[in-house]
Amino acid sequence: MERLAARVAEAADLVTVALDELLPRADGPEARLTEAMRYAALGPGKRLRPFFALETGRMFDLDDRPVLRAACALECVHAYSLIHDDLPSMDDDDLRRGRPTVHKAYDEATAVLAGDALQAAAFEILSHPDTYGDGAVRAEMVLKLAQAAGAKGMCGGQMIDLIGVRDDLGAVARMQRMKTGALIACAFELPLVMAHAGEGERHALMAFAQDLGLAYQIVDDLLDVEGEAAEMGKKAGKDAAKGKANYVTLLGAEAARERLALLTEQTKAHLDPFGPRGEILRASVDFVLERRS
Ligand code: IPE
Ligand code: IPE
Ligand code: MG
Ligand code: MG
Ligand code: MG
Repeated sequence: MERLAARVAEAADLVTVALDELLPRADGPEARLTEAMRYAALGPGKRLRPFFALETGRMFDLDDRPVLRAACALECVHAYSLIHDDLPSMDDDDLRRGRPTVHKAYDEATAVLAGDALQAAAFEILSHPDTYGDGAVRAEMVLKLAQAAGAKGMCGGQMIDLIGVRDDLGAVARMQRMKTGALIACAFELPLVMAHAGEGERHALMAFAQDLGLAYQIVDDLLDVEGEAAEMGKKAGKDAAKGKANYVTLLGAEAARERLALLTEQTKAHLDPFGPRGEILRASVDFVLERRS
């Protein structure tokens, strides 16, 4: 576990330094926008999507450098999704990563624009020739990120979250896979594309990623009930107060934890075809799901 914590911290440092270099700076009046983008993207996140991307790349013997650019693109989309998720018209949250949310630190219009511009920055970084020499590979990566972020991925899931689902666990699972799972799965998929991985390996790793994404959101929902705001850097108890439908609000924490335990084993089993090569990712399942923040 300690070794894994060190690897996650190393990935976080790498991606934060790279993001700092890649994100725009400005001198004119638009500096307010670039500052808000940097405030959101460079804040103290766990950087788990970049960690998954880097570890997947290493599993396929890719150089860190191109994978790091893909990781930065993923983190930009993630940061944008959090800015918009916190807006008064969505979850209306004041605290994120232990600091005021972007619309509190700046204002709502700036938060909307910072999210928009971070999404654009993600695709600028990913589609740049420095990410990968072969344009066809880059186009496939752009396609995968667009699908993960869009109406059939994160945004679609956020729409379902806001409308709410009735007592239907299948519908909850679908929502979670879209709003959280899709971008997490993309962290595995982008290196798979760069590595020209075969169908069998792609299939196994995507099955792993999808279950991991679902489990990740269940932990987020459990932490909303059981976590400490001081540890999480965001307010607790938000979901029940807002009448959100998720595994925890529908089933209760105990039953949600039981489902999570089953899902954890199922998730790890998808890595069996990789043998010892999958050791870090296998260990990261427990690490990520036992998190307190
Ligand atoms: C929070 O994501 C929102 C979800 C999709 C559950 P993270 O838990 O990855 O948040 P950061 O990036 O560490 O702040
Ligand atoms: C957010 O889910 C998922 C996103 C796509 C941003 P939540 O609304 O539960 O995330 P937190 O709890 O605010 O981080
Ligand atoms: Mg939300
Ligand atoms: Mg939220
Ligand atoms: Mg939450």
